[in-house]
Order: sequence, then C-alpha cells, then structure tokens
Amino acid sequence: MHCPALPEGFDFTDPDLLQARVPHPEFARMRQTAPVWWCAQPPGISGFDDSGYWAVTRHADVKYVSTHPELFSSHTNTAVIRFNESISRDQIEVQKLIMLNMDPPEHTRVRQIVQRGFTPRAIRSLEEALRTRAHSIVETAIANAADDNTFDFVTNIAVELPLQAIAELIGVPQEDRTKIFDWSNKMAAYDDPEYAITEEVGTEAAMEIVSYAMNLAAARKECPAKDIVSQLVAAEGEGNLGPDEFGFFVILLAVAGNETTRNAISHGMHAFLTHPEQWELYKRERPDTTAEEIVRWATPVVSFQRTATQDLELGGQRIKKGDRVGLFYSSANNDPEVFTDPQAYDITRDPNPHLGFGGGGPHFCLGKSLAVLEINLIFNAIADALPGLKLAGDPRRLRSAWLNGIKELQVTRTT
Ligand code: HEM
Repeated sequence: MHCPALPEGFDFTDPDLLQARVPHPEFARMRQTAPVWWCAQPPGISGFDDSGYWAVTRHADVKYVSTHPELFSSHTNTAVIRFNESISRDQIEVQKLIMLNMDPPEHTRVRQIVQRGFTPRAIRSLEEALRTRAHSIVETAIANAADDNTFDFVTNIAVELPLQAIAELIGVPQEDRTKIFDWSNKMAAYDDPEYAITEEVGTEAAMEIVSYAMNLAAARKECPAKDIVSQLVAAEGEGNLGPDEFGFFVILLAVAGNETTRNAISHGMHAFLTHPEQWELYKRERPDTTAEEIVRWATPVVSFQRTATQDLELGGQRIKKGDRVGLFYSSANNDPEVFTDPQAYDITRDPNPHLGFGGGGPHFCLGKSLAVLEINLIFNAIADALPGLKLAGDPRRLRSAWLNGIKELQVTRTT
C-alpha cells in the first residue's frame, strides 16, 4: 500500500533528492504517522535489489534494529540500501568480505583484531602529529587562496585531515594519499555523474586499493613499523588478518573514514557560517560537545540497511524473513522524542545521543574517537587562523543515495 504520509512515488533513496536536500519534512511525517513503512522500489531501478524495503525513521527503532544482529543481519544484504547500475552483483558479493557486511561470529573475529589499532592509546598517540597537520592544512589553504581571499573549503581543508589521518594510521606514505582520495571517491561517489564512474572504474579502484594494501602489508611484515598495518599482519594465525582480509579492511577505512569525516567537517563549517552566533560561541569557548553536534547535524551517512533473519514485528508492522530494513540515521537524529528542538544547531547540546556513528550495535563506528579528534583539531585550527571566514556561495552537494555530501563550499577569508 502507498504510504499515506508521503507524496505518490516519493523515494528516500533517490540520489537526486539528496543532492537537493535531506528530506526532513518527509521524515517528520513518517515518524509521526508511519514510522516503519514499506517503500516499494521505484520502477526502472536496475540496481542491486528491486524488491523494496522497510523505511525505519524513529530513533528508538533504528537503535533496536542496530542492537539486534541476530534478528537483523548485515550479511544477507549489503549495507547501502540502493546501488545504481554501475555496481554489479559480483561487486556486491565482494562487498561481503568487508566487515561492515559481516555477522557474528565472523564479524566478531575481525572486529577484535582491527580494534587493536583504534584503542584510546593508539588514537592519543596520533594527536600531536594530527594537530600539527591541522594547523598546516589551514595555513596552506590561506596561502593558496585567490587574490580576493576566496577558496574552496572542501578541497583545501575538509578533504585533507581525514586523508592525512588515515595515511598516518595505516602507514601510507603521505605522497600516496591522493591515490586513496581518488580510489575512495570512485567507490563512494558512484551516483554522481561528475565523477563518471562505470562498473569498470569502480572495480578497478577496488582492485587497486586491495593490491596497494596487500603490498603495504607484505612490506610491513618484512620490516615492521609503528603503525596499524604492522600490528595487524605481524604473524600468521587466528589473531591476525590475512593479506586479502587486510586489503578489504583498507577499502573500508578509505571510504568509511574518509568520505564521512570530510563531509562532517564541510557541513560543520557551513552550519557555523549560517549560524554566526554558534561560530562566535565556538571561538570563545570551544565546547567539547561540538563534534558530536556537528555529526548529528550533518549525519554524513544518511542510511544503512539490514535484512530480517526471521518473521518479526517492528513498529507495529509484520516484517518477513528476508525483508530489507532501511535505517534512516538522518531521521533518527532529528527525532523530537529524543532531541529538544532538533532542527536547531546547538554546539552545547548535552546529552546528545545521536546515531550518526550508528545505532550502538556490533558495527558501531570503529573510528568514532578518531573522527571526533579530527573534527576538534580542524575547527580549533580554523578558529585560530581563520576566525573571520564568510560564505561565498551555496554549497554544491554530492549526488548520492546514502551519503550527505558537499563537493564544493566557496568561502572568503575576511580577517
Ligand atoms: C562504521 C559513521 C568516521 C571506520 C560506521 C557506521 C556509521 C559510521 C554510520 C555503521 C554503523 C552501524 O552499522 O551500526 C561514521 C561517521 C564518521 C565516521 C559519521 C565521521 C564523522 C570513521 C573513521 C573511521 C571509521 C574516521 C576510521 C578511520 C569505520 C569502520 C566501520 C564504521 C571500520 C565498520 C565497523 C564494523 O562493521 O564493525 N561508521 N564514521 N569511521 N566506521 Fe565510521
């Protein structure tokens, strides 16, 4: 049955929709009147699965699904709700080798291994190097600005720290970091015609990154360094990743750690420049609640999905085994049942139980502490060196079915 809360043919996963706006009014209507609703896949989608999915829009339900992997599998179907024609079924099968698309016990084994590289101590050990990098990124952006002091915030600032952090974390030489940028764009931005990504281009990027990572792993095995690669591949056996497993982990880091943080930073800057009182407050007090609010506000990952492992009930609806269930983090993060005045950008919001890093289950974002550190470091550096930044145009948004992305944000330095 057609959803009474939405206009006929409305599609939450339409890349054109996200390119224009995040559908907050529609999410609000769904949360109120049809919080779990079957959305038929619009005709003509030749992507991965044309059978439709349940849209889950309330905070409590998104959290419930995320924390019950025995009822909602990540493996049966892959994370992103809608792929386009450039992604083949073979590629979807390959994606199941990425931990985001695994279930316990396989997921538990891989997660236990890789989280050794993300302990609070491991992240703290990156802090000083990343602080220096954040300041130097901002200084370089200032030096590269045009004569009228205008520059693109995304390419000059937002892109840089997440890339450099991943390079630092996995020990990729800094001169190779643009390769990671290029590969991750090709894997995440397949909906956007500007990048002209065909199936061949996407597959080639994935193969290149796996082979790059495997070479890196082999080199570190031979000659260990103080990086996560050396730790993860140190010895054969149960407690380590095999070379191909390591390759797929690096693919995940390149997309999950890169595109997400970049877009949080771009949206955060845009939010500050459109809410000048929050920017003034930030410059004065630098509240340590800022990064969480930026991630809630931006919600870079709009949605991921699961598949029901049995017949069950959710939000008053009967879900059948094998049905796809779409988790709309953007909607959950604006649920008035949980957030006072959710449409307000408030960097002092506390508590802030947003689901921007996931709903708290076994797949909860592994890189959260690193992302929060990066966001804090970059905005500190911007507030120090570019306090008088102004918007110089509207953001140019990414065309995507799942990523709330900004491709370009022109800004002008006034002081
Ligand atoms: C998983 C968001 C930064 C690595 C996830 C998930 C979300 C997410 C929504 C899925 C959670 C779930 O399914 O329950 C974000 C956002 C970020 C960010 C919004 C930045 C603002 C990072 C960084 C890294 C990272 C910096 C690493 C360098 C991962 C990994 C997973 C993941 C490895 C998969 C975990 C698993 O399957 O067990 N992230 N992420 N993320 N993220 Fe992040």
